[in-house]
Amino acid sequence: MPKIIYIEHTGKEHVIDAPNGQTVMEAAVKHAVPGIDADCGGACACATCHVYVDAAFTDKVGKPSAMEQSMLDFAENVKENSRLSCQIKIRDDLDGLRVTTPESQH
Ligand code: FES
Repeated sequence: MPKIIYIEHTGKEHVIDAPNGQTVMEAAVKHAVPGIDADCGGACACATCHVYVDAAFTDKVGKPSAMEQSMLDFAENVKENSRLSCQIKIRDDLDGLRVTTPESQH
């Protein structure tokens, strides 16, 4: 099962074993990882599951879709490596993925 590493803005890490097919948001919520609100439940309609993808994984994770990008426009402190974690499906080649949560989701 792939491991996903969530890093809070304070630097605190949470290592979660997450099954393929689950999203990075769903795995965080299931394990009560702080910093991901996911108000819309994964419908790509709230932007409160914003994360920064570690540079080593940005190519593998890929770019946001046009719909995701338009939701990211509502998030604060968006960077080149910003993604909505409900739009990242976990799969074997994302084992070891590191994502950092922003200081605030609003
Ligand atoms: S959970 Fe709402 S956009 Fe990801």
